[in-house]
Amino acid sequence: MGLLQKILVPFAGLILAFCFYSGKEDFKPGMLKGKHVIVTGASAGIGEQMAYHLARMGSHILITARTEGKLQKVVARCLELGAASASYINGNMEDMTFAQSVVKKAEDLWGSLDMLILNHVGVSYFNYFNRDVGHVQKLLDINFLSYVTMTVTALPMLKNSGGSIIVVSSLAGKVGFPFVVPYSATKFALDGFFSSLRQEFVMQNTNISITLCILGLIDTENAMKAVSGVLKSSAAPKEECALEIIKGGALRQREVYYEYFSTKIPLLIRDWAPNLLDYIIRREYNVENLNN
Ligand SMILES: NC(=O)c1ccc[n+]([C@@H]2O[C@H](COP(=O)([O-])OP(=O)(O)OC[C@H]3O[C@@H](n4cnc5c(N)ncnc54)[C@H](OP(=O)(O)O)[C@@H]3O)[C@@H](O)[C@H]2O)c1
Ligand SMILES: *[C@@H]1O[C@H](CO)[C@@H](O)[C@H](O)[C@H]1NC(C)=O
Repeated sequence: MGLLQKILVPFAGLILAFCFYSGKEDFKPGMLKGKHVIVTGASAGIGEQMAYHLARMGSHILITARTEGKLQKVVARCLELGAASASYINGNMEDMTFAQSVVKKAEDLWGSLDMLILNHVGVSYFNYFNRDVGHVQKLLDINFLSYVTMTVTALPMLKNSGGSIIVVSSLAGKVGFPFVVPYSATKFALDGFFSSLRQEFVMQNTNISITLCILGLIDTENAMKAVSGVLKSSAAPKEECALEIIKGGALRQREVYYEYFSTKIPLLIRDWAPNLLDYIIRREYNVENLNN
């Protein structure tokens, strides 16, 4: 009897979990219509593609990055694609005063905020750790502390709207990868901060969802330039990646995995056979092609 219960209870649990998950709401583009959304790092790459998807869905968009000329072009394209409105603010996320001012601009423009998409990353190197502690600190400011700053500044508006925070991270924020030591550290930090904060939101009945996005290699210009000739893995398309992030955020999912199997399977191996996973990862590199 005891043994039967030990088997039956988890089995019934599994069935229930399956029914619960398959009964979940589907994504509809209309979900983002008229919503007020900030996208950081939207002058290029995945952030730029997220801005275009949101524009097609009819959102109000505020984008940011350092390069004003690029932001102006993205804003113009967003308006062509059907954005309810599109604005930009340019500046450097190394500066926490600037990070605050992005959220304040949204407040001035709209007086409310539904979705905060934290996506920008500072420029780093793709090579063995160069022992430059100053660079690690600077990258933590850009990739981590500015995310925290923007979140804190946006909390009152997000509480009011029952809004969402979307944090774009990486498989390198869950598993160690060579040649991205400082970057990986900043992405692990995001997981610690936002996964803990999510717990507190639930305990305090704060209706703000937090979605952490675990991305594999994506075919953005900067990423392709960095890894070409060294990383053997193939890259997934940035357009589809951008859409999956928005869908996961709108559905208030805990985490997004893109591409699903190439990120989910390593994570399943991680906890049971970490040395095997490390070995599989190391085999993906042509070390002799590293720039030095
Ligand atoms: N591509 C991949 O393979 C991959 C894989 C896993 C995770 N991800 C994650 O996906 C996100 C987007 O990656 P991506 O490949 O699309 O990046 P990207 O093409 O290099 O774009 C980075 C964006 O951040 C902005 N940025 C850079 N430094 C900044 C600073 N100091 N202050 C403010 N903005 C700054 C850039 O614009 P300016 O230069 O004009 O400032 C640009 O808009 C990142 O969080 C990244 O970690 C990417
Ligand atoms: C939380 O916010 C979402 C989206 O704004 C809303 O659909 C949901 O009903 C809210 N939940 C509660 C408990 O207020």
